[in-house]
Amino acid sequence: MKVVHTVQELRDQLRGQLRVSFVPTMGNLHEGHLALMRTARQHGDPVVASIFVNRLQFGPNEDFHRYPRTLAADIEKLERDRNVYVLFAPSEEELYPEPQTYRIQPPEGLGDILEGQFRPGFFEGVTTIVLKLFSCVQPRVAVFGKKDYQQLMVVRQMCRQFQLPVEVIAQETVRADDGLALSSRNGYLGSAERAEAPRLYRALQTVRDRILAGERDLGAIERAAVAELSQHGWNVDYLTVRHQSDLQPAKSGEALPATVVVAAARLGQTRLIDNLEIPAAGVPAAGAPAAGDPIAGA
Ligand code: PAJ
Repeated sequence: MKVVHTVQELRDQLRGQLRVSFVPTMGNLHEGHLALMRTARQHGDPVVASIFVNRLQFGPNEDFHRYPRTLAADIEKLERDRNVYVLFAPSEEELYPEPQTYRIQPPEGLGDILEGQFRPGFFEGVTTIVLKLFSCVQPRVAVFGKKDYQQLMVVRQMCRQFQLPVEVIAQETVRADDGLALSSRNGYLGSAERAEAPRLYRALQTVRDRILAGERDLGAIERAAVAELSQHGWNVDYLTVRHQSDLQPAKSGEALPATVVVAAARLGQTRLIDNLEIPAAGVPAAGAPAAGDPIAGA
């Protein structure tokens, strides 16, 4: 694997390559990131990964300064996996040699809800750096994780509206054995918090199971999940069932198209996000058993 730190070196390495497959990251790599590299390998060649902790997407009170920077260990992991041909690890001066005054403004509707609401400026920072990285790498394919579901959708929308010649591929969320979605921020959790953390995913599973069992009072289902988390010390920013197509709220009491339950919640100082897709669910048959009821007639 070649490790390059400047845009010039990157371009020299990639000259003439027409099927570049790209995975942008902020480093501190875990199995979730490595799964993206494998998926990238299946969709193009060569694979380029980037590691850059992007100041622009962190709010003033967020963890930019303490975000884990572990380049040597990251390089070792990538070398071991042998999926990445070039790692682009630029300095801040290289990517932001002057103040980044041109920015992408994600649109109302998708960009200012959920993460966009709780982290003002976040998607502006993400799309601005992703566009810049695309311009440096010029990939044909780019792989993003469903773990950051809304980010994936925002990036897809940006590519579509600017007609960027980049196909965005989604990678399923990689989880620890107890269900916790892998994240660089899991390293902030103390041992008691780490033991508690899988409750977030269990809450999402409960929401899904209740919907698939025929319940349609989404507000009640969401409130029960928030209450369960709050009782165990979580501060929930949001936990809500949304349409997969546009992340707008799903309506109770009717047939549900494909939805996704998305959540962000804080455990101590650490903010975790997760989501779970729910397949389309028809109108429950009249008299269908509510979740938890014994099967009628059994
Ligand atoms: P980062 O948090 O490092 O994540 C890089 C990529 O890995 C993202 O596409 C993210 O969705 C994916 N990812 C993280 N954890 C995952 C998991 N458990 N399973 C599957 N995929 C996972 O997301 C960013 O960096 C930045 O916002 C970035 C896009 C690089 C722009 O700065």
